[in-house]
Amino acid sequence: MTDWFPTMPARLFFSSGDLMADRRFEFARDLQLKGDLAAAADLLLQAIELAPDFTTAWFTLGGIREELGENPAAVEAFRAAQASDPGDRHGAGLRLMRLGAAPLSAMPQASVQALFDQYAPRFESSLVGDLGYRGPALLFKAVLAVRSAAKKPAFFKRAIDLGCGTGLAAMAFAKEVDHFTGVDLSPRMIEKSRLTGLYAELEVADMLQGLCGRLDASADLILAADAMVYVADIAPVLAEAARVLAGGGLLAFTTETHGGEGVILGSGLRYAHAATHVRAALAAAGLKLSLIEDLSARNEDNVPVPGLVVVAAKT
Ligand SMILES: C[S@@+](CC[C@H](N)C(=O)[O-])C[C@H]1O[C@@H](n2cnc3c(N)ncnc32)[C@H](O)[C@@H]1O
Repeated sequence: MTDWFPTMPARLFFSSGDLMADRRFEFARDLQLKGDLAAAADLLLQAIELAPDFTTAWFTLGGIREELGENPAAVEAFRAAQASDPGDRHGAGLRLMRLGAAPLSAMPQASVQALFDQYAPRFESSLVGDLGYRGPALLFKAVLAVRSAAKKPAFFKRAIDLGCGTGLAAMAFAKEVDHFTGVDLSPRMIEKSRLTGLYAELEVADMLQGLCGRLDASADLILAADAMVYVADIAPVLAEAARVLAGGGLLAFTTETHGGEGVILGSGLRYAHAATHVRAALAAAGLKLSLIEDLSARNEDNVPVPGLVVVAAKT
């Protein structure tokens, strides 16, 4: 499958500290990759016997059991992975949410950070190359359309790029922005975006914290390309964005969506926000919706993932 990172076999590896247990894990991974899931699960249990707090082995075992259709046993393994790593860098909590064994809640920041740190070197080829990623281009087109309808120039003095990643959104908007600030949870993504030379300022932070540290009315444009999909509760981010935007400023973001109500965790382990939910959250933040379109920012298995492109204004 072409699905991007979370559903691929675990690549993050944290040593158990026990050489024998680590070796068994490596053998188990080989068997898993060869498709012998039952044998891989057996070896993982052996590794866990040697090192009971071996998070990576528990997490991998959870994934294998899920693939084998053994959901209660998968839940048990993911719970053990979570218990053995309080930061939950593998994101076992997300797997529990998807299995219906935990209520919908925020993604563990450590898992988002660990995943994007790991993917930073091949992020653009994976996302743009393999998944036909088009988030920044969609945002650019939408922002130009809103500005043109308002008969205003599409030029912004100060912009903030939330979840800036490697800097693709700044690249799309480079000619229309004077001063770009990038905010991202992943230090290695920030390193990549620094190399573009497009950002005047870069900050390793959660997007909400990043906004909270900004002055009132200090930005003219706030972007979030394929980043709200990692945020379960967008309401506080929208409220802070409204505070940080100057009058007439725009907030533009993409998100994944679904036909129901509220927020769900999609099959790709990203959140999908219903259009009604997005509208209500914008209204609660005091932002005026300028544009909302059903447009997909990426493909999965060569099929566009249902998505929204949203532009809202501070009036
Ligand atoms: C799929 S990438 C998109 C990157 C970039 N915006 C683009 O269009 O190429 C998502 C980025 O959001 C970042 N991210 C996810 N959750 C975040 C959060 N709560 N605060 C800040 N950054 C976050 C990730 O580290 C990652 O770099």
